[in-house]
Amino acid sequence: MNLLAVREQIPALSACTYLNAGGIGPSPKIVTDTLIRLALEVSENGPDGMAFSREEFTRAQETRAKVARFIGAHPDEITLVRSTAEGFDIVGHGLRWQAGDEVIFAGDDHPAARAIWAILARRHGIRPVRLELRDDSPEAILEDTRKLITSRTRLISVSHVTSENGLRVPARELADLAHAHGARLILDGCQAVGQFPIDVHEIGCDFYAAGTYKWLLGPFGTGFLWMRRDLLPEIEPSWVGAGGTVSFDPETGRWDPLPSGEKYEFGARYWPVVPAMGAAIDFVSAVGLEAIAARSRQLVERMRERLGELRGVIDFTPRCAALRTGMVGAAIEGVGGKELAERLRARGIHLRANRGPNGLTGVRLCLAFFVTEDEVDRTADAIAEIATKR
Ligand SMILES: Cc1ncc(COP(=O)(O)O)c(C=O)c1O
Repeated sequence: MNLLAVREQIPALSACTYLNAGGIGPSPKIVTDTLIRLALEVSENGPDGMAFSREEFTRAQETRAKVARFIGAHPDEITLVRSTAEGFDIVGHGLRWQAGDEVIFAGDDHPAARAIWAILARRHGIRPVRLELRDDSPEAILEDTRKLITSRTRLISVSHVTSENGLRVPARELADLAHAHGARLILDGCQAVGQFPIDVHEIGCDFYAAGTYKWLLGPFGTGFLWMRRDLLPEIEPSWVGAGGTVSFDPETGRWDPLPSGEKYEFGARYWPVVPAMGAAIDFVSAVGLEAIAARSRQLVERMRERLGELRGVIDFTPRCAALRTGMVGAAIEGVGGKELAERLRARGIHLRANRGPNGLTGVRLCLAFFVTEDEVDRTADAIAEIATKR
């Protein structure tokens, strides 16, 4: 990886130390350029081209195919969505529920992947069952999940990688566990896509929803939902409008959805963001997902080593190395996470406050591939200074 050349293509990196890819990723210039070029095209040629021209349509289909290749899927299995939650909502509202059906979710899940189960509990009487993710080992997570499974378990719903400290769940084993009990697995991939290679068929999950504006560096407000092809007929669209149909008969009101994931896409959309998301996939793929994952792991260990030397600093990155990704969770005793984030931001280091164990608050250091060793060291120095001046 030519780090300098890569960094030069991400403008925000010359303005600050950006450790918040887990919030919103800093888009490469090609992503913003694609967006601007298409926005100008719409402005100069007339906006009706965006909605109706075959050309724009083709760009959306190209991006759909790109997303599919990126996760080892077929384009027909991809729905282009605006956020992770939209994917979860499509699946949650599309499944047919009976009162007493159980969904196992993780206590660390983001509202995007969790709010839906609360709504369905109220509406259909399903029972959300909470799993606390232990960070000792993948086996501990599997063991705890196994204990929660009953004959009523319909779905296991967890983040592939959690927001607070980047814990990566043993997804493949969770899929096997779910299937062995006649249940299904949905993963929230918002913190995972762009961090390491993903192949949904290798994982064996049933549904995978992800915003693409974090580690994948796409425009804010883009994402995808993947579901296994044989599940498409079962999951009825819950939100409908113009689009997503084979045909709509204005006389009779007869409405025939497409057989593909496109059937969940309805209504007015700002299409320029879609090819811009495709440009982000190209960018990250050209850097290489294996190289990205390896570099992040090195940066994480470098940061943890530095923080480990500091008194009063608590490291709540997953204890088991096999569960770690590109995130470090750290707190300073006696300094709240929000204050710590603000004090670091005043030094040009952008990151977010987060929740640690036992009510602790700290910061989330997202060490994406574009972060330099020097930035890691300077951030550790800044934390050391704040820790000594508590
Ligand atoms: C694990 C996880 N899922 C989902 C989201 C965001 O959800 P959405 O794309 O629906 O805004 C985030 C972060 O904001 C996240 O950390």
